[in-house]
Formats: sequence, structure tokens, C-alpha cells
Amino acid sequence: MKINLFAPKLIDWYQHQRRNLPWRHTRDPYFIWLSEVILQQTRVAQGLPYYQQFTEAYPTVFDLAAAPEQEIMRLWQGLGYYSRARNLSQTAQFIVKEQNGQFPDSYHKLLKLKGIGPYTAAAIASFAYDEAVAVVDGNVYRVLARVFGLATDITSTEGKKQFAQLANELLDVSQPATYNQAIMEFGALQCTPVSPDCLLCPFQASCVANATGQIAKLPVKTKKTKVRERFFNYFVITKNQEIALKQRTERDIWQQLYDFCLVETPKKATSLDDLELDETLQLLLQTGQITAPARSYLHILTHQHIQAQFWQITLSPDNTIALPEGLAWYSPAELEALPKPVLIASYCQQM
Ligand code: ADE
Repeated sequence: MKINLFAPKLIDWYQHQRRNLPWRHTRDPYFIWLSEVILQQTRVAQGLPYYQQFTEAYPTVFDLAAAPEQEIMRLWQGLGYYSRARNLSQTAQFIVKEQNGQFPDSYHKLLKLKGIGPYTAAAIASFAYDEAVAVVDGNVYRVLARVFGLATDITSTEGKKQFAQLANELLDVSQPATYNQAIMEFGALQCTPVSPDCLLCPFQASCVANATGQIAKLPVKTKKTKVRERFFNYFVITKNQEIALKQRTERDIWQQLYDFCLVETPKKATSLDDLELDETLQLLLQTGQITAPARSYLHILTHQHIQAQFWQITLSPDNTIALPEGLAWYSPAELEALPKPVLIASYCQQM
């Protein structure tokens, strides 16, 4: 495949196949930033309703900067990778306080913002300002690895460098915004990870992977994501219609979200005897009415599989035993308004 034939073919494909997505009708860096942060590690179908809710709730960067972080986290609920929502809030405040609400206007200045890496900086700079920088994300790795038969490991430093270099050579500098949208769209719709549509592909005749039967082998990724198995034992403590919750503060998944009293075990616990319980919790268990878990719930994240069981502890209204450290009582309305992991929100719905 000749380098200079790639962009025109790709853009021609895009003009016919592109989806009508709301962030493709704006050049406002604020909306583009929102859409790109939402779409990191997220499919368009999942991200779209969040984009609509965020732009409606916070039509300007000033609105987002003024919003309580907890409210932003609640709106983010279900999207995962919650540090993205915290960074969104902090960066909005920085832009309002330090830049009078003006977004940085170049790739290099954008890169300095919290939560904005090379991919997001390139996306904003090209879509909002027509700066000639190529986006490189998972879609781009896949398309380039296959079409050009580039078999360098995409998780290696050398691989990242090679792909970024090729991406910038291929970029149509006269229309970087269209080119960047086109290559991502091509990866999302045509050159998909599994069962790509090679039969109707504009690069069918020139694609190295197609010619050499390497579609399934490219891109090469040696450092596979390791999945950690975890076992969560939750105590759902209720008293007088109120429920005991704790904000997660450790460096772990779901940081700053609220969940129940949690005891983690290295293996699946089959009874309360398998759990190491601190004194306050033991006292509570002795005075409350316990309902053992009827089933366990498997919650799948990219890097973790969580098996969760829930013990319900109902305390009588006059019970005065203190809650274990960090837990506090919340009314049903407060519970609804707090940001929670989907596992917890779903459990609450069926309680
Ligand atoms: N994924 C990440 N950014 C995207 C965009 N601008 N359009 C479609 N999918 C995307």
C-alpha cells in the first residue's frame, strides 16, 4: 500500500459510511473533550447517552467547574474508570480559574492538562483547531498493523514509536479532523477486532494481513491484560429504613464511590466462619437479624472478576451499637443521590 493512497481511500470510505454522531457537529473544544473522555475505553453505543446527559447538565465548562464532584461522579455512574470523572472535574476547574474558561489551543498545551494524554490531546487539537496531529488509539493500531503488516508489539516502546510515526506519515495534513475521525470510524465499523468485513473493505487488495492470512494475529500485543479474581463479602446493614454505607477511599477500583460494609477474602467464603470480622462488626452481627446470601453475583471489569455475596443485617430501631469505622447511615433518597458502583446500585434496586 502506497503511503499517499491511504488517506484518500480512507476518507472516501468515511464519507459514505460515517455515523451521525453529535460530537461530529461541533468544533467547541469543551464538547470534544467531554466526548473523547467519555469514549475512552467505552463503545459509542454505551457512551452516547452519557454524552447527552453531560452536555445537557453542563452546557459550558463553567457549569462543569461549578458542579460538586459527587454530582459528576453520580452522572458518570456505570461508565467505569472513575478517575476520568474526577479528572474532568479538576480540569474544568483549572480551565475556569487559570484560563478564564478558555481551552488551551494547541496539542502541546492540551497535553499538560490532567487526564489528557497524547490520544485525547490529538483528538481535541485536530477536531477543534485543525492541527495536523494524528490520533493513535486501539483502532488505529489495529488498522495500521493489518493494512501495512506492521508486526511490532504495540505494548512495547519501540512499537508505540513506530505506529505513531506511521500514523503521522499517513495523516492528511489538509484535513486532519476528517482524517482522524475516519480512521477511528474505520477501526470501529470495518476493521473490527473480531470478524472484520474484509470482503467489502476498500483496502482488500492491498492489505498485508489480508494477503498473508494474518488478520487474527495483528496487531501483536504480548502483555495481555491479567485478570484478578476477587471475592467481596458485603454486609448490608439496615435500621429504620436507613442503610449503612462507606465511601471507598483506598487506591483501588471505585475510588470515592459508596458501597456497603465490605470484607474481602482470598477465596469464596461459604459461611460467616470463613470471614475475619472486626469486633464492632461481630457485635452488630450478634444483635441483628442475619439473612445469609441466597446467591453470589459475578461482576466483570476489564482487569478484575468480582464475586460478590451480600449478607443482610437488620437491626432493631432501638439498637444503639456503633457502626464499624467509616460507615454512616443514609436515607433512601440520599442513597439514590450518591455515586455507587453498578454492582451496588443494582443490588439496591432489587432489595
Ligand atoms: N471513539 C473515540 N473517539 C471517537 C470519536 N470521535 N468518534 C467515534 N468513536 C470514538
